[in-house]
Amino acid sequence: MAHRWTNTYTASDVTPKGVWLNRRAVLAGMTGLAAAGGLAGQAAAQQAPLEPNTLEEITSYNNFYEFGTGKDDPAKNSGDMVTDPWEVTIDGMVDNPGTFSLQDLISDMTMEERIYRFRCVEAWSMVVPWNGFELADLLEKAGVQSGATHVAFETAVMPEVMPGVRNRVIDFPYVEGLRLDEAMHPLTLMATGIYGEPLANQNGAPIRLVVPWKYGFKSIKSIVRITLTDEQPKATWNDINAREYGFYSNVNPEVDHPRWSQASERMIGGGLFASRQDTLMFNGYPEVASLYEGMDLSVDF
Ligand code: MTE
Repeated sequence: MAHRWTNTYTASDVTPKGVWLNRRAVLAGMTGLAAAGGLAGQAAAQQAPLEPNTLEEITSYNNFYEFGTGKDDPAKNSGDMVTDPWEVTIDGMVDNPGTFSLQDLISDMTMEERIYRFRCVEAWSMVVPWNGFELADLLEKAGVQSGATHVAFETAVMPEVMPGVRNRVIDFPYVEGLRLDEAMHPLTLMATGIYGEPLANQNGAPIRLVVPWKYGFKSIKSIVRITLTDEQPKATWNDINAREYGFYSNVNPEVDHPRWSQASERMIGGGLFASRQDTLMFNGYPEVASLYEGMDLSVDF
């Protein structure tokens, strides 16, 4: 399937792992002219400078409550989660429901690298080079039936290897949801890797959602079920506290969390320019604004 979206950030915005894996794929995603020569550098220079993130940072500072509530708990505690074999059930309002091995599910998906800004509701951010495919492609394959309005997602529950589940730190399974048009947007990614390598368990192996214009908690990890429905699905943090965590949870510098400002964010990483930066509307992805035309985003936040 053809690229429907072009990387905004280039490989120079993330810390190389030694070599820039998939560098050519990234450049191929840029416009021909810019990729061909000096304009590439010019385009990169026009972007706000980003604090680069290393694989180490991306895999050691995590939220994954199934493994505990501390930022280093997921890396410490997720090693025993077996992610191969893995099955994902697709059900609800689809023509082709079923339970599929991950391998079968992704065999005909077009894998791409997407370098996305990632903004947690806790006002920290990173830049992450994901590998994955557009959720829209998977939904097309599943055959979404008319009348479906939303997509619901569910994370695995494995108490034997998930101390946070055993301790019931929140209600599990972790669930999330998107409106169908959000799910079909070309920015919405199903990620299976980072830096060209399979996702680490703490990042949501073997398959997770990435919705870069929304707060990170919408990007649900280690998915075992995707359900098409005609109702707004339950979403874990929205269910815990709807006043603090809206169903949409689009990144918005003008809508503060009741307990802290969202106007700026702390960039994770110890580089030269480690500091706070201004939060960008839709996390810097204005192409999604049309999805919310006519909505008051301070009410439907
Ligand atoms: N998915 C599950 N199943 N459980 C979680 O606790 N935390 C969310 C999201 N997905 C979470 C989850 C939150 S709050 C964030 S910020 C991101 O995962 C963190 O992703 P990362 O650890 O890969 O940076």
